[in-house]
Amino acid sequence: MSLLTIMPSGKTINAGEGMTLLAAILAADEALAHKCDGKASCGSCHIFVQEGRKGLSRIAKEENEKLDAIVGVGSKSRLACQAIVLGTEDIKIELLGFGSGF
Ligand code: FES
Repeated sequence: MSLLTIMPSGKTINAGEGMTLLAAILAADEALAHKCDGKASCGSCHIFVQEGRKGLSRIAKEENEKLDAIVGVGSKSRLACQAIVLGTEDIKIELLGFGSGF
């Protein structure tokens, strides 16, 4: 179990191991676009991970390729639908407040 803090609202939720960030964010009643429903093909669930990157699954090829195609991507970028909570450390993420991807 990891404590997930969602910025800018500062809302927190306990995210269980194996849960995607997208599922945890939606469970916290935060709005995040997810147009392809978690298939790593739309990029609309792009978020920044501010703390606890090691508490998430590594970026796989599909996610990496999609991130490469999105404007505004940085070293903290993840696709929320592809990042899985490992339960090893607490995580702080930032919703970007603008539509990413396609
Ligand atoms: S929901 Fe489409 S890439 Fe995450």
